[in-house]
Amino acid sequence: MIHTEKLSAGYKEVHVLFDIDAEIKKGGITAIVGPNGSGKSTLLKSIFGLTTIYSGKVIYKDDDITNVPPYVRTKLGIAYLPQVDNVFTNLTVEENLKIAGYTLENYEYVERREIALSAFPELNDFLNRKAGTLSGGERQFLAIATALIRRAEVLMLDEPTAQLSPKFAEIIFDKILQLRDDFKLTIALVEQNVKRALEISEYTYLLVSGRVAFEGKSSELMEHEKFEKLCMGIVE
Ligand SMILES: Nc1ncnc2c1ncn2[C@@H]1O[C@H](COP(=O)(O)OP(=O)(O)O)[C@@H](O)[C@H]1O
Ligand SMILES: [Mg+2]
Repeated sequence: MIHTEKLSAGYKEVHVLFDIDAEIKKGGITAIVGPNGSGKSTLLKSIFGLTTIYSGKVIYKDDDITNVPPYVRTKLGIAYLPQVDNVFTNLTVEENLKIAGYTLENYEYVERREIALSAFPELNDFLNRKAGTLSGGERQFLAIATALIRRAEVLMLDEPTAQLSPKFAEIIFDKILQLRDDFKLTIALVEQNVKRALEISEYTYLLVSGRVAFEGKSSELMEHEKFEKLCMGIVE
C-alpha cells in the first residue's frame, strides 16, 4: 500500500532517518518499534509529508507521492494521528466529527459519521461533550473516528496507547484489530509496548538511530535473539 525507498529525512539540517526501506502492507498491521528518539514518529511524519526529504521516495499505491503536500495525502486516504493534540479539545465530539467531514457532501457525511460511530459506539454518549473533557483513550477513539470520516484507507497511529491505563490500552489494541478486520484498514502502528505490538502486527520494523536495525515477521521476532538484544539497546 505504501512503501519507502531509501528514504532519508529529517528537519531542515537535522538529519534523522537514513536509507529507510519500509513497507506498509495493504490490509495489515505493520509495527514500528525502537528506543526513544530512534525516528519512529519522524518516519510516520515523513510518510505524511511533514519533514524534509533529502533523498529517496515515498510510494503510495504505485504513485510517487514524495513531493505531494500533506492535505493532498489526506485526500488520497492517508491519515496520520500524532501522539498528542490529535483532536480539537475546545470543540465538542460532534463538532470534531463535523470538521473532519467538512469537504463531504451532506449525505456522504451522514454515511461516514454512521460508519465512524459504528466503529466507536462509545462516542455516542459523549457527542455534546468537549473533546478536552474526554479521557486519553476516548480521545484516541475520537481521533480515529475523524480519520474514518475522512475516508482514511491507511491509518498511521503514533503511540496510541501511550499514557493509557493497561486496561484501556487493551481496548485500543482490540479496536486496532477490529479496524483491520471489519473496516479493512491498512495500519502502521508505532508502539512502545513492543510485546503487544508484535502480537497484533504481521510485520515489524525496529528502528535504531534512524536506521532499520531489524525487520521481520512479527511472529518470528519475539523469539529472535538478535531482535531481543537490539530492543534492549545492544547493537552489534
Ligand atoms: N521538529 C523537530 N525538529 C528537529 N528535530 C526533531 C524534531 N522532532 C524530532 N526531532 C529529533 O529527531 C529524532 C527522532 O525523533 P522522533 O522521530 O520523535 O523519535 P521517536 O518517535 O522514535 O521517539 C530525535 O533526535 C529528535 O530530537
Ligand atoms: Mg515518537
